[in-house]
Amino acid sequence: MLIEESDLPMVAMDFMNEVHKEEAELINALFERVLAYEADASEANANAITEKYQEWYTHTLAHFKGEEDKMVELKFPPYPLHKQEHDIAVQRMDEVFADWQQSKNAQSLKMYLIEELPRWLIQHISTLDVVTARFFSTGFPSAADLRHS
Ligand SMILES: [Fe+2]
Ligand SMILES: [Fe+2]
Repeated sequence: MLIEESDLPMVAMDFMNEVHKEEAELINALFERVLAYEADASEANANAITEKYQEWYTHTLAHFKGEEDKMVELKFPPYPLHKQEHDIAVQRMDEVFADWQQSKNAQSLKMYLIEELPRWLIQHISTLDVVTARFFSTGFPSAADLRHS
């Protein structure tokens, strides 16, 4: 398993914790399919990766949009910064997917899943999502968040 539930930092909003848990489950399921393809590079196993990637991608867009809509609604001041991190992550997902579709070589996808994505996700949740969720739940950022962000 790539991401354990206990690896995920908790934030002050349940709806976000729930979405993060689903995100981790989809990434783990995608990784399993990459390993299956590595063992047997059949067309069915390739299609299984593509399908799971698309499912995860759709979920991620909804995950990000859920946070962004609420930031706009509550006029969260660092919204552009948080949105920009989401946009860069989606761009990376687009690149990795395009490479996979074109090459049907799962090596760089596997490296992305191991080396890059979990670190990004945990880093993003423990910084911007934590600060944002606290703002959602209290209506203002804490002094400590202002110092560190
Ligand atoms: Fe998030
Ligand atoms: Fe976020």
